[in-house]
Amino acid sequence: MCGIVGYTGTQQATPILLDGLNRLEYRGYDSSGIAIVNDKEIEIMKIKGRLRELERITEGVSPIGTTGIGHTRWATHGGPSNENAHPHYSRDKSFAVVHNGIIENYLEMRDFLSERGFSFRSETDTEIVAMLLEYYYEGDVLDAIIKMRNKIKGSYALGIVHRGESDAIYALRKDSPLVIGLGEGENFIASDIPAALPYTRKFIIPDENEIALITPDNVTIYNRNKEQIQKPVTISDLSVADAEKDGFPHFMLKEIHEQSGAIRKTVHDRITPDGIRLDRIKLDGSKIRKIFVVACGSAYHAGVVGKYFIEKYARLEVETDLASEFRYRDPIVGPDCLTIIISQSGETADSLAALREAKRRGSRVLAIVNVVDSSIAREADDVLYTRAGLEIAVATTKGYTTQVAALCLLGLKLARDRETITQELYDELLYELKQTPETLARFIDDVSNVAQHLAGKYYTASDAYFIGRGYDWAAALEGALKLKEISYIHAEAYAAGELKHGTISLIEKNSLVIGIATEPTLLEKTLSNIKEVRSRGAAVIGITDAPDSIGAECDDLIVLPSGNSAFSSLFTAAALQLFAYYIAAARGGDIDKPRNLAKSVTVE
Ligand code: AGP
Repeated sequence: MCGIVGYTGTQQATPILLDGLNRLEYRGYDSSGIAIVNDKEIEIMKIKGRLRELERITEGVSPIGTTGIGHTRWATHGGPSNENAHPHYSRDKSFAVVHNGIIENYLEMRDFLSERGFSFRSETDTEIVAMLLEYYYEGDVLDAIIKMRNKIKGSYALGIVHRGESDAIYALRKDSPLVIGLGEGENFIASDIPAALPYTRKFIIPDENEIALITPDNVTIYNRNKEQIQKPVTISDLSVADAEKDGFPHFMLKEIHEQSGAIRKTVHDRITPDGIRLDRIKLDGSKIRKIFVVACGSAYHAGVVGKYFIEKYARLEVETDLASEFRYRDPIVGPDCLTIIISQSGETADSLAALREAKRRGSRVLAIVNVVDSSIAREADDVLYTRAGLEIAVATTKGYTTQVAALCLLGLKLARDRETITQELYDELLYELKQTPETLARFIDDVSNVAQHLAGKYYTASDAYFIGRGYDWAAALEGALKLKEISYIHAEAYAAGELKHGTISLIEKNSLVIGIATEPTLLEKTLSNIKEVRSRGAAVIGITDAPDSIGAECDDLIVLPSGNSAFSSLFTAAALQLFAYYIAAARGGDIDKPRNLAKSVTVE
């Protein structure tokens, strides 16, 4: 989704804005622009395409000024074009605006403004914000913003500059992320912390319906009644290095290799001699009738692993839901339910809306998120942070595996609280979970060459089918998503037993099938499914910790460390991340920023 940056201070704004936008590239975009405000005017430069186009057109002619806003746009209303790129002027060019989100009543606002003599330069919803500010402005920008805000509906993070104020930025948010970076004699706004990390680690996070006035020496926050309020300052524990590749060719490969450390941070200090301590979470397993696990994409796939694990050991019913479905299907959720919202970014619009829907129906909500103080983290009743650190590649890796680890930890705590597991099995599983980071680190080192070799063999495939049962089906879902989102190869995941109910008609000579088999009780069944596709000419890559059982029926094998299948799904994930990565590299994809995708989907 779109990226917003803003700077006001003593330095020329353009290079700082461009640097910030580069650090937000992973958010996904198709055009970009900046607006610099000085005593006389607001100058906008913007263009379709990658940021290098914006750098090209500003080279040597960048607008003069020490205050400005910048934007990378992921097209929603109106395709990628120079005119639709942000920032957008008001009619008289007294205001310029950048926006992340969707103004849902923008057509109504266009009519309202057209009837009052306004015309438009773009097809975007954002432009009406700039026009409304001009329409309501009677000498006080704050008043104009309040009137504009009361008029629009939808989601927004807004950066606003006004021609009459060459050292001021106004900012406000609803449902979209925005942070304020605090420097020395300079201040920043950004959609995400990494954009300002080279300049500061001190941040204020405005709440919804608060308005921030940012000048080089001050940040003033106003509530809905225009009263000044105090806000806490948080110190980010991220470093600039976290936001850089550290010698890896891509963020994705760096983050694959960071997984063992990330999982260690997620589980280790929560496993104590007195048992599992999940921060300050107040969960009484005996009072939960049913758990809903609600998420999108890879987070949903982690939820499927969590479902199998919690149901098996805590004997609690778990229903998994895609957030975009949950919020509209009138779910039977109530005060006797626990709703778990899983989200790496903590800003996914559908997941945030599902959280609100679950709370509206009386359910307690536990968020399993990675980004501290994100919208989902702030609105949940309890938060279990996955501590994966900054994840920049659009295709999640450590974000996903730390979600799985957190869910296993939660499942063991619930099982212990509900006494549905013997002390011996509890100790055994806890020990294995604690060992997972080291086992995974060794495995990633060992499997990288195998994954690279297999990628070289199969990178020309046009389709790929991932099959598995139980935890292996969840792993198949995630493996298929990883491959398709960065290599653009069509990939599907199927419960292995489901293949013959239709999809097997697609299997023909040389069809690529990845057969995942780690569940001891289901090995024979999955082996039969592998034989079914093999007999129809498929090329099969087996992924298993039982090579003697299925190896003879596979063209290639990835051998996993042996252990509990829930934890094996972490090893399978890492193997398939590397497989997808090397295939995408062989196909020359934009691995960290795949086409059409964004790191955080903050629109519906
Ligand atoms: C995963 O590789 C994708 N980038 C995508 O499916 C992602 O998992 C999904 O959009 C959910 O994002 P979230 O975890 O930040 O909510």
